[in-house]
Amino acid sequence: MLPLTSLKTVLSFLLVVGSPVFSIPLNTHTTAVSLAAKFKAAGATNIVAGDRARAQALHHAAKTGKYYANASITNVVVIGYTIQVGIGNPMKHYGLLVDSASGNTWIGAEQDYTITKTSTGTGDAVAVSYGSGNFSGQEYLDTITLSSLSISNQSIGVANEYQGFRGVDGVLGIGPTSLTKGTVSNTDTVPTIMDNLFSQNSINSEILGVYFVPVSEEDPTGTLTFGGWNNSLMTSDITYTPITSASPACNYWGIDQSITYGDSTILSSAAGIVDTATVLILIATDAFDAYKNVTGATLDETTGLLKITSDQYSNLKPLIFTIGGTAFTLTPNAQIWPRSMNSVIGDTSGNSDDIYLIVADIGNDTFGFVNGYTFLERFYSIFDTTNQRVGFATTAYTESTSN
Ligand SMILES: *[C@@H]1O[C@H](CO)[C@@H](O)[C@H](O)[C@H]1NC(C)=O
Ligand SMILES: *[C@@H]1O[C@H](CO)[C@@H](O)[C@H](O)[C@H]1NC(C)=O
Ligand SMILES: *[C@@H]1O[C@H](CO)[C@@H](O)[C@H](O)[C@H]1NC(C)=O
Ligand SMILES: *[C@@H]1O[C@H](CO)[C@@H](O)[C@H](O)[C@H]1NC(C)=O
Ligand SMILES: *[C@@H]1O[C@H](CO)[C@@H](O)[C@H](O)[C@H]1NC(C)=O
Ligand SMILES: *[C@@H]1O[C@H](CO)[C@@H](O)[C@H](O)[C@H]1NC(C)=O
Repeated sequence: MLPLTSLKTVLSFLLVVGSPVFSIPLNTHTTAVSLAAKFKAAGATNIVAGDRARAQALHHAAKTGKYYANASITNVVVIGYTIQVGIGNPMKHYGLLVDSASGNTWIGAEQDYTITKTSTGTGDAVAVSYGSGNFSGQEYLDTITLSSLSISNQSIGVANEYQGFRGVDGVLGIGPTSLTKGTVSNTDTVPTIMDNLFSQNSINSEILGVYFVPVSEEDPTGTLTFGGWNNSLMTSDITYTPITSASPACNYWGIDQSITYGDSTILSSAAGIVDTATVLILIATDAFDAYKNVTGATLDETTGLLKITSDQYSNLKPLIFTIGGTAFTLTPNAQIWPRSMNSVIGDTSGNSDDIYLIVADIGNDTFGFVNGYTFLERFYSIFDTTNQRVGFATTAYTESTSN
């Protein structure tokens, strides 16, 4: 939770929620659910510190089985994509943060859980830590509704204590099931929402399609497609890459990639993770130093982000991510934070001409990179549990200049 004093300075941006339901042809075996982009930022928020603490905690947890919380990271933003999930009967809606780096689904943050006739308490305790936030509470079984799909007997956490989740009711964990290990007492792992959709025959393949529309677009939203993907949202073929063999990234939606800037190598092939709940693109310190050099950027103390001048922006070259043999190119505009949202990252100048880069230093003792949602806003992504791979394709927003 934020300290009371900073609550007074909370700026909140709640971007418009798209219409909640798409009509689904009955024979497709996929179901689409709309997303909303959500911003709640405190004045003193440092997104870089929050993202870095999360990367370190995820890395440490996968290596040691123990979560690690950086107690100095308490002033956390929740800024990311949320989905409206129906729970119980009568059904109540909860807005959950979409998180591909955890497996537990839980509620009870901003909005309390309403017990209904489908709620069953298991008597088990649950606790999950995310590095820049955490929760603990009791595990329940309940019915979950995602647009036209219904999941019975879904194990969910109900928080009685939480930290670092402002502006959302909880988390929808779309990460691997193994990430739930040790989170619920008397239980080895907890079946995720995706596991239950598949085991209850609501979807034919355990595949999730993720479509994030850049938050600076006029109609900021996106879609999760359960059971597959939506071809009409893509402008290229899908490139798949297997889950990396490198530990500990292999415990997440981990992949191998390399990065070049123009002709300069920024990151030689490395293992890292794809994370819907990280904001930025975090890269290893050497790679970050090289990117800082070639862009001529300076590190801005206030925001923790690299800052460039408008001349440097006009000279910015494409940043190319090679994944599964295919080049995914971030245009200059895709490398910068949306200027209309500079206040969210703590730029207090009120000057929307300030230009910040979304590539940041990942820090010590963690993955080679984390591709956060600023990357995923430019490429459709497919999280394929059945075939243990991640897919990417370009979209109508890959070359958008809305930032
Ligand atoms: C915790 O986060 C702070 C702020 O980013 C950082 O200075 C510090 O090094 C971190 N501590 C550890 C143990 O990683
Ligand atoms: C959450 O993290 C804070 C800060 O590290 C810690 O004081 C608190 O005990 C943790 N709470 C839970 C429920 O794990
Ligand atoms: C309901 O889910 C729990 C935990 O996920 C599992 O242990 C139990 O076997 C399930 N019951 C049924 C009837 O599927
Ligand atoms: C796929 O996306 C298109 C374009 O937004 C939409 O019209 C269509 O309904 C979507 N299809 C499914 C099955 O969700
Ligand atoms: C950055 O540029 C300086 C000066 O040209 C050079 O000494 C340094 O090695 C470069 N660092 C990286 C990581 O490229
Ligand atoms: C990584 O460790 C070095 C040496 O201890 C330290 O100077 C540096 O600040 C650390 N980097 C980050 C981003 O925490």
